[in-house]
Amino acid sequence: MKTIFTTLGISLLVLAGCNGQKKTTETDFIQDNINNAVAQETLQTDIIEKSGKILNPRTIDKDGNIVYVPIDDWCSGFFPGNMWYTYELTGDEKWKPLAEKYTEALDSVQYLTWHHDVGFMIGSSYLNGYRYADKKEYVPVIVQTAKSLSTRFRPKAGVIQSWDADRGWQGERGWKCPVIIDNMMNLELMFEATKLSGDSTFYNIAVSHANTTMKNHFREDNSCFHVVDYDPETGAVRNRQTAQGYADSSAWARGQAWALYGYTMCYRYTKDPSYLDQAQKVYNFIFTNKNLPEDLVPYWDYDAPNIPNEPRDASAAACTASALYELSTYVPDKGYKEMADKIMESLASPAYRAAVGTNGNFILMHSVGSIPHGAEIDVPLNYADYYFLEALIRKRDLEKK
Ligand code: GLY
Repeated sequence: MKTIFTTLGISLLVLAGCNGQKKTTETDFIQDNINNAVAQETLQTDIIEKSGKILNPRTIDKDGNIVYVPIDDWCSGFFPGNMWYTYELTGDEKWKPLAEKYTEALDSVQYLTWHHDVGFMIGSSYLNGYRYADKKEYVPVIVQTAKSLSTRFRPKAGVIQSWDADRGWQGERGWKCPVIIDNMMNLELMFEATKLSGDSTFYNIAVSHANTTMKNHFREDNSCFHVVDYDPETGAVRNRQTAQGYADSSAWARGQAWALYGYTMCYRYTKDPSYLDQAQKVYNFIFTNKNLPEDLVPYWDYDAPNIPNEPRDASAAACTASALYELSTYVPDKGYKEMADKIMESLASPAYRAAVGTNGNFILMHSVGSIPHGAEIDVPLNYADYYFLEALIRKRDLEKK
């Protein structure tokens, strides 16, 4: 019996394969990716639950071991964030207590003031709990985090300082008030904190930061620098440089994705057309770039010296896809959704999507953390998975309409 059914099953699959060549519907695409995500995340979570510890997986090391990070790591929100997204995508109640547990493990992050990434950390964990499970008790945490982030606002320069200039490797660069393009992503938490508390301070800081960044971070060709260092006393720009890109003058791929996503998101909260315009300028830079590969998954830097023999960055592609789904809702006639769909097809193909049980049980392969630091080169990253799942939700919602 088993053999007959197996044979029958294989025949049906083969038939479906021939017949359905390119007839895979969008619904199938989404369901297939949900199934895959559930399989990987179940394996990932089971290992952690069995350990009896609260662990937070970020990537794998050179030997393929899973790398877990402490809660003050900038990536600590993405693991619980992936559970909230899986909960939203499946509706399966099993994910909710897990998402709550690993979100609430980040409780003390709301008081963290020594770097700017609390927007990523609390945004992907607590804010998603509030959004997808109506966790009203998370609101004070979101507002307190915005207060902590506000302590890094430098009024003379009009920006939130990203990194401290006197610690770690950043302390060796001679910076006074370094601001990285990534910081645009932290503004979502500020806008939400104003909505939730009625305190406009957070909104005003976010707008000031977005405007100053728009003025100082972008080049003539609409690409952006990674780091702009300010004099916090005068607001003057001291330097425009890179930390994770190939060169000061190059276009680091994830930085361009942060910029596209950041200005699209700022438009969501402000309806300021200059933000929409900025997002589209970044889009034009990315999608007319001669070094963007045909599958739309960029090399880690658009100016990396050995293209095409350079690592790709799937995290940049996933973030770009998610941003483009949102952008397509504001500007429906420019093909942004279609471009996002193409990126998603690439990411969901065997070239980037790992087989179940491999890749440290992360969903996507082939991302890059920081080549100049020799760190996380051609590996899975939890935030690549996070923006991939977010893009999947956005795609699903757009296609439902
Ligand atoms: N925010 C750090 C990074 O994009 O690698």
